[in-house]
This record gives sequence, structure tokens and C-alpha cells, in this order.
Amino acid sequence: MTKYVLYETDTGKQVKQTNKSCRPASAIHNHLSRLILRRDTASLLRQPSAKMSSSPMPSRTSPDVLEELQLHAAQNLEKVEISRYYEVIRELGKGTYGKVDLVVHRIRGTKMALKFLCKKTTNLRSFLREYSISLYLSPCPFIIDMLGIAFQTDEYYIFAQEYALAGDLFDIIPPQVGLPEVVAKRCGRQVAVALDYLHCKKLVHRDIKPENVLLFDRECHRVKLSDFGMAQWAGAPVRRVSGTIPYTAPELSQAAPWQGICVDYSLDVWAFGVLLFCTLTGNFPWEAALPSDPFYQEFLRWQRRPSPAPVPTQWRRFSDEALHTFRRLLSPEPPCRCAARDVLSQLGCRWTLPEGSGEDARDARAEPGSPPPEEEQQLVDRMKQQTLSPAADEEEEEEEENQAVVAVETGSRVLLAAPIEICV
Ligand SMILES: Nc1ncnc2c1ncn2[C@@H]1O[C@H](COP(=O)(O)OP(=O)(O)OP(=O)(O)O)[C@@H](O)[C@H]1O
Ligand SMILES: [Mg+2]
Repeated sequence: MTKYVLYETDTGKQVKQTNKSCRPASAIHNHLSRLILRRDTASLLRQPSAKMSSSPMPSRTSPDVLEELQLHAAQNLEKVEISRYYEVIRELGKGTYGKVDLVVHRIRGTKMALKFLCKKTTNLRSFLREYSISLYLSPCPFIIDMLGIAFQTDEYYIFAQEYALAGDLFDIIPPQVGLPEVVAKRCGRQVAVALDYLHCKKLVHRDIKPENVLLFDRECHRVKLSDFGMAQWAGAPVRRVSGTIPYTAPELSQAAPWQGICVDYSLDVWAFGVLLFCTLTGNFPWEAALPSDPFYQEFLRWQRRPSPAPVPTQWRRFSDEALHTFRRLLSPEPPCRCAARDVLSQLGCRWTLPEGSGEDARDARAEPGSPPPEEEQQLVDRMKQQTLSPAADEEEEEEEENQAVVAVETGSRVLLAAPIEICV
């Protein structure tokens, strides 16, 4: 089990945490126009109130734990003078609500990522919510680790995360080329497990995109899901206030502004399907999942025709197996979408066809060193058993997490300022 250590925000001194209940157990096709993959469209379109409004929690089990974490964080949210305790090395990223800086703790010498949420656009409740959800999910080895540090300044609410030294997934996807299949699969596997973990905790991320997948190496041996600022309980009623980006599922893209919708895991599954496409091709499959989008329209026609229907142009590079997986991830009807974890069983077959080949690549070999699907399944099952329960066996959980990390290691933006062109 991940050990959570709390630090005193003013001294940087480690605080022993013995009370387990306080410890979080955490880019059209041939009409030749182009889609621009830009970093961070969602944030530009998203209205501040989307993050600030929070819906009622549907049940009283996991939410109880989160309430407790929020309460604990609220009670300890001291005002801190940043420069006194932290040396800012550089800015790691910027979002609608604030920024993320790489800092070094002056006393402990620890490098960490501080996420600053501007008080003008984020209220305390939203901050505590993002913080506690991140903390709650961070025992998962494929979710960014939290350092148990949260404080405030006059301008910002701040929390600390482990520093992902290789940046985010968006930065390493070569536009119009994509990542090598082996790398894309390695990354996809870890994101699938992270999604399965948080879905099993009844949470929906709601902002799955390459910018929110953080990297510890550029070969994607170790990647972690981050940014739980939009996360919500499955089943929670929310209003459609987010902007539409390629990752936005059709039921959300096509909902009327301010129409009420129910948060569902299938939203993440759709976004994950689009993320996989982007990772493998360096392109977006469409600009938006709207009937007015020609790429989406063509995809939809293919989806709805019984196979074998002609495959849309930008999808012809994929093997039958990969197409089958995409069909299930990107089903226009949310209930027909598969689970993110279903991708795990498809990792053994080749996803992309050799260039110039129209052949079925069904017999292509699996990624060397990739754990067989049964092992992935076992890993998922083990992680699901992780709880915050004080009754949990710490030693056993620690061993489980170590095994999980070994499994990964042995396995083999959208921003207007810096456009990256991505064609489909
Ligand atoms: N722990 C980290 N280590 C390294 N880089 C990070 C870390 N956390 C965030 N970043 C960088 O900062 C960017 C913004 O972070 P994050 O997604 O948490 O902020 P945000 O404001 O919530 O984003 P959004 O625009 O999606 O709302 C990330 O896309 C990533 O490039
Ligand atoms: Mg983000």
C-alpha cells in the first residue's frame, strides 16, 4: 500500500500518520482539410462554474471517505509563504484554473509538483474535492501520487504531487505519425488499468486526454493518470457546461447547453478510445463527435453498417482486431461501450497494419515482454481490492503494489499558443 506521509506545511517536518482513517488508502480524411490538435481546448471552453459546481454524492460509502479527507485537509489548510519553504524551479504546465510548478522543498530537498488553483476561479470546496479525490485514488500505481501536502496563499489553493519528470503524453506524440505501437500499447495498458481502478471506486474522470497522462520516461514504461479536477461520482446529475473537444462523447457533445446529464463511466471509455487513436496516429479522428463533423459522420456510418463495411479512410491503418476494439470503445450508444479494461485482452494482437499493407494482421506477434492478458486481469483484480479500510492488511497491500509496479516495468494539447497539426 502507498504510504501517505503528511508534512507540516510551515516546517516541512514529517508528521507521523498512525490514524488509518486519515490515510488515503490513490487527431479529415480525404476532403483534405485538417484538424488542428491543440493543447487544452477543453480548459479554454470549460466554464469556471463547471469545476465549481459539485453535485450531490449518490451513496454514502466512498463519499464518506472523501468527506473525511476533505475535512482533514480543510482543518490543516494553513497560509504559507511559498518562497520561504519552496524554491520554484520552473513552470510545468498551465490550465484554466491555475498552474503547476516544479519546486524543491528548501528543508527536505524534495522535488515536487505544486498545483496552484486560483482562488478567483476555484472555490475552497472544489479545491478540497480535487485534492481529496486525487489523494483517495493515488494508491493505484497508475495514478499520480500525492504527497499529503495542501496549503493556501492569498491568491491560490495549492497541493503537492509527485513530479512526473518526462512531462505529459501530448508532448511526445509525433503529429501525424503517432507513437510506435509498442509504446502506445504500453501507455494504453496503464491508462486502462487506472481507469478501471477509478471506475471501480465509482468515480468518472471526465477529462481523459493526453495532457492528463503524465510520464516518467519517454518510452512510457511508467505513466500515470492525473488531473481529477473534473472527476465526479458515477450517476451524479451534472449540467452540460463543458466545451466540446475531440475526446467528448457524442451524448455530451450533442446535449443542449445546460441540459442535465448523468455522469457515466462510458464518458471516460469514449475519451480513452479517442486517446488511443491519437496516440497511435498523431491525429484526431474528428474535431467533435457531432453530426456536422464529416469525419465523425463517416465513422458513424461505418459503425452503424453491418460489417464488412468499407472502413473510413483514417481508420484503414488498423488491424481487424484493433477496429473491433475501437468499435466497442467508441460505440455511439453509451450502454454498448465496453469497459476500459477490455482493451487489456487485445494487447496481444497487432493493432496497426504494416505500411502499404491492406492485409489482416491477425497473426502478428504480441509486444515482447508484455504481460499476458491474464496477468493484467489479476493486477486489475488485486488493485480493486485496495480499500481505505483500517482492516486492510498493510503488508499484503504493499506487496500487491510492488507486484503491480513490476508488472509495468517488465512490460516491455490541445493549446492555441503552440499549434500542432494533426490530420485524419
Ligand atoms: N505532477 C506533475 N508532474 C509534471 N507535470 C505536471 C504535473 N502535474 C501537471 N503537470 C503538467 O501541467 C499541466 C496542467 O496540469 P493539470 O492538468 O493538473 O492542470 P489543470 O489546470 O487542471 O488542467 P486542465 O487545463 O486540464 O484543467 C499538465 O498537462 C502537465 O503538462
Ligand atoms: Mg489537465
